[in-house]
Amino acid sequence: MPELSIVATLNNKIAGHILFTKIHIKGNDGNIKESLGLAPMAVKPELQNSGIGSLLIKKGLEVAQGLGFKSVIVLGHEHYYPKFGFEPAIKWNIKAPFEVPSNVFMAIELEKDGLKNMSGTVIYPKEFDTV
Ligand SMILES: CC(C)(COP(=O)(O)OP(=O)(O)OC[C@H]1O[C@@H](n2cnc3c(N)ncnc32)[C@H](O)[C@@H]1OP(=O)(O)O)[C@@H](O)C(=O)NCCC(=O)NCCS
Repeated sequence: MPELSIVATLNNKIAGHILFTKIHIKGNDGNIKESLGLAPMAVKPELQNSGIGSLLIKKGLEVAQGLGFKSVIVLGHEHYYPKFGFEPAIKWNIKAPFEVPSNVFMAIELEKDGLKNMSGTVIYPKEFDTV
């Protein structure tokens, strides 16, 4: 999603980048529903821990919400993403397509009940196979 590939700049130089990709959740009933995956994101090493990553996440969630996406899924650090409202996806009975500790596989609703009745397994696009 080009609108969801966002860069942060500092003095006209790229300081960080975040990308959101359309993903699907295959329900236990076989129905396929749409969501968004947050990955990857990175901030230049010498600029890390100065809030750039937080700004990128907040901006990205805002743009995603504006585009009408109802939820975002992330596989990431269990102490970082909860600051932005992410919670373990198991809360909505959403599972990763691979073995992963449940506290690092997280989701956030961008609108009320955005993940209601979305239980199932995430399907990532094939580009993620090599990540
Ligand atoms: C993870 C990353 C994007 C965060 O960006 P950032 O601009 O440094 O983050 P912020 O300044 O907004 O937030 C800093 C907080 O994140 C924490 N943090 C930074 N990197 C972290 C990491 N790899 N794991 C867990 N927490 C991390 C810091 O401890 C700090 O916590 P505090 O606010 O409680 O002190 C950045 O560190 C990075 O590019 N890391 C290397 C690539 C990476 O791991 N990407 C994520 C997986 S795709």
